[in-house]
Amino acid sequence: MPEVVKAKLLKKEYLKDDIVKFSVEAIGIVKTAKPGNFIEIKVSETTYPFLRRPISIYNIKKDEGILEFIVQIKGEGTKLLCEKKNGDIIDIIGPLGFGTFKYEKYQNIAIIGGGIGVFPLYELAKEAKEAGKNINIYLGFRNKDYVVLEKEFKNVSNKLVVTTDDGSYGENGFAIKFLEEDLKSKKVDCIYACGPLPMLRAIKKLSIKENIPCQVSLEQRMGCGIGACLGCSVKKANSSKENPQYFQVCKGGPVFFAKDVEF
Ligand SMILES: Cc1cc2nc3c(=O)[nH]c(=O)nc-3n(C[C@H](O)[C@H](O)[C@H](O)COP(=O)(O)OP(=O)(O)OC[C@H]3O[C@@H](n4cnc5c(N)ncnc54)[C@H](O)[C@@H]3O)c2cc1C
Ligand code: FES
Repeated sequence: MPEVVKAKLLKKEYLKDDIVKFSVEAIGIVKTAKPGNFIEIKVSETTYPFLRRPISIYNIKKDEGILEFIVQIKGEGTKLLCEKKNGDIIDIIGPLGFGTFKYEKYQNIAIIGGGIGVFPLYELAKEAKEAGKNINIYLGFRNKDYVVLEKEFKNVSNKLVVTTDDGSYGENGFAIKFLEEDLKSKKVDCIYACGPLPMLRAIKKLSIKENIPCQVSLEQRMGCGIGACLGCSVKKANSSKENPQYFQVCKGGPVFFAKDVEF
């Protein structure tokens, strides 16, 4: 069950000028949080901005009651959030989303993320590694200035490939190219992805071609975040034009099997 938590900001760390990692005390959230869940954050003390902002859970430290999330400054809401100081109280609702990453029945998993889409994949990799799974991770960034969390993902993988679109760091090209290459020789039981839509579409296509299940986290723009406004709807795959049916990403997702949704 989601809870409203007044979370104390324990530590704020700049990973880049515009990317901030938050560690907060949030026992009520971490006790039930699962990989793929997200939180809704009230970014200011006033009524502006009115809507909470959805942010993925990056790391769950259950024993310490600590929740970590990472925010890239995009607009006014994330800017205000990143102005918080250590010791401040942040109003958070979570964990949210019934659609979480399922890894229990797969042994060989491939995780692929692009840009800020890598954040929700860390907890998945961490838990799956602890459960003894074989984990290959592919992370793609625009260029070397955007590369984050390489050491963290290395620690929770059997193999990590970091790529940049311009080759300025790591391997040259899109991350999917390296996943596709590995699929020729490696057994993969499920693919997990989060990132920009064109990347997710390409991964869905690859997973269908290779007949491998694929779970995607969709970071759809949201309004209410709790299933009341329909602002985050995505069409169910195979529902007809005449009678289209929809999932709400904030409730049914954000993680779906790629074959079940049109995006
Ligand atoms: C389930 C989910 C998980 C997310 N996890 C993270 C995360 O872990 N870290 C993180 O930094 N961000 C994450 N986001 C995106 C984050 O919620 C938005 O960047 C944020 O709400 C923007 O608020 P703002 O007030 O700063 O910007 P706004 O002023 O609302 O918008 C600024 C710009 O950002 C764009 N934008 C807003 N929301 C989104 C979105 N969902 N996807 C793409 N572009 C958007 C707008 O179109 C606009 O161009 C997530 C979104 C969802 C739905
Ligand atoms: S954001 Fe309102 S229904 Fe999902």
